[in-house]
Amino acid sequence: MTRICQRLGLAVLLAGSIAATAKADELNLMPWPSHIEQQAGALNLNRLPHVEVTGCEERVTSGLDRFNRAVALRTGMPFLNPDLKPDTATMFAIHCAAHGDKVQALEEDESYKLTVTAAGIDLSAPNPLGVLHGFQTLLQLMHNGPQGWEIPAVQIEDTPRFPWRGLMIDVSRHFMGIDVLKRNIDGMEAVKYNVLHLHLSDDEGFRVQSLKRPKLTEVASDGNFYTQEQVRDLVEYARARGIRVVPEFDVPGHSVSWLVAYPELASAPGVTKIVRSQYDELRPPFDPTNDGTYKLLDDVFGEMAKLFPDEYFHIGGDEVDGKYWDHNEKIQAWMKEHNIKDNHALQAYFNQKIQKIVNKHGKHMEGWDEIVASDLPKDILVQSWRGPKSIAQTAQMGFKTLLSAGYYLDLQYSAATHYAVDPLEGEAAALTPEQKKLIIGGEAAQWTEYVTSEILDNRIWPRAGAVAERLWSPESVTDVNSMYRRLAVLSDELQWVGLEHTTSSQRMLDRIAAGMPYELFNTLAVTVEPVKEYERETTQKYDTNMPLNHLVDADPPESNEARRINALATQAASNAEARAELRKWLVRWRDNDAKIEPYLATSELRTNLVPLSQQLAVLGTVGLQALDAIESGHALTADQQKQQNDSITAADVHHAQMLIVVVPAVKSLVAAEPVAH
Ligand code: ACM
Repeated sequence: MTRICQRLGLAVLLAGSIAATAKADELNLMPWPSHIEQQAGALNLNRLPHVEVTGCEERVTSGLDRFNRAVALRTGMPFLNPDLKPDTATMFAIHCAAHGDKVQALEEDESYKLTVTAAGIDLSAPNPLGVLHGFQTLLQLMHNGPQGWEIPAVQIEDTPRFPWRGLMIDVSRHFMGIDVLKRNIDGMEAVKYNVLHLHLSDDEGFRVQSLKRPKLTEVASDGNFYTQEQVRDLVEYARARGIRVVPEFDVPGHSVSWLVAYPELASAPGVTKIVRSQYDELRPPFDPTNDGTYKLLDDVFGEMAKLFPDEYFHIGGDEVDGKYWDHNEKIQAWMKEHNIKDNHALQAYFNQKIQKIVNKHGKHMEGWDEIVASDLPKDILVQSWRGPKSIAQTAQMGFKTLLSAGYYLDLQYSAATHYAVDPLEGEAAALTPEQKKLIIGGEAAQWTEYVTSEILDNRIWPRAGAVAERLWSPESVTDVNSMYRRLAVLSDELQWVGLEHTTSSQRMLDRIAAGMPYELFNTLAVTVEPVKEYERETTQKYDTNMPLNHLVDADPPESNEARRINALATQAASNAEARAELRKWLVRWRDNDAKIEPYLATSELRTNLVPLSQQLAVLGTVGLQALDAIESGHALTADQQKQQNDSITAADVHHAQMLIVVVPAVKSLVAAEPVAH
């Protein structure tokens, strides 16, 4: 089918060429394309082009419509203005070689070719998915300069490194509304993710309406769940953006919510309510020896398999607590009778049966590492959360696998930390080429024990952009400074898309700072970050009823200001400007505590910050002494250095589930050589 679509109201436009100023490596693209050449000139966006769409399906025309709106939003150019005549000298040609699959498939070709010249745009792809990706690249290339809005002349041939580039969102621990998911899908589209994995059931709640087993939402959720109509709408919304939706229903562990509705299928008695906090310790798995378990799962998985059209169906399978099986006499007797020697074998038996159910409903089974067993069929997919060794072993056994270890965004590590993790590194690097092909990508994961819908965006974005680049771009794209520079631009663009990572964080910070001078609060807020990994659980068990409204919840996982200050401090010995700026910060840190102290006492949201503020003052004082020594030209004696390092260590203590992240700056100053006089 060939269709000429004129007058689609493209607000983008084109005119004379302008000398290019940006180099290819300065373009604000993320993920970085596999091949890009920047040429002289640019396309100026001031007139409607003549748009020609050939060979494409509805997803492309609706994608073009969204693209037009995005361009109009950014540039203020006319949008869908029927009175404007396209400029026949300029062309926006869009071509797909073929329609995409009815249900977006893992194997579909997502590549595209994009040429921009002063005379127009040429975007072509084997499949609509490539065109959708090309639109996002174009949006990222657009910039406002002295000549107005323009797109630099480029030639791009782009194709993803991995076919599975996912983001997992846990909607069980804290429910996330459809609007929240949709804006995150928009963010995913911007950086070319192609799988939204929804963790739909856990101990804390079952989140999809079941018509066959309505008890699952009547008693196994807290009233927060997606209707089937909402799911269908969400799946369509994602499909229009080149994104598959993979559902996860975690069994046989992490399944207390199911068991509230069906307590007779639990491995232990007494399940009467969904889990609300870490203090709720009764969390038995399903009883794998009860036929009713399989009847229930067959009913529900059959229904859900229809609702979620994707070819993969995730059954969880992680962290099964075997003590409940050990303590259940009926289960023990059954195991003896059936010659099942341990819990691992019992879960393997369970997985075999579940795999057949999932298969019967037309899906490939997906699960976390724990499901791996040599007797499962090779069409399953294993999501590794345990690390490079596990993913390599899985591939060696001949299973498809994808990496999530290293991409757990809820652990609050820096973008650089996630960026450094590659699915094909470590043990996986030694695999044969055939085995390496089984590693089909990765998934960023956001668990939500401590995350409400107010916090979610700020936990995912912009860091998920760095993971998206790792999974799309060539392995050689590893420059961290370039990544951070582009990530900052992306962060702004993601806000234009509708994500609330910055605005919501700021709103929360403002709320905490109510009634006090914001500058004093901010001085402290930018020097701290939430504790990493699972440390928060050790001082504050999660509780879904607990308001998540303190600084640890409001602050972004990574402080850009602190990173900049730490980098600046490494130049202290050689750079007078750096020293001048550092001095300002250090004075502020030293003096802030006395000023902020009366305000910290007046709000329950702030009292826990008192020790951090005092520690920051110590760091300011130590840093200033070190800076004075650097500038005086007299090195600190070994004793003085030791004293200062001891003070730093004493001030480097976590409080309020936060850590001070400018400690490296002060350490750099203490270690720096004095300036030669
Ligand atoms: C997991 O993090 N338990 C999959």
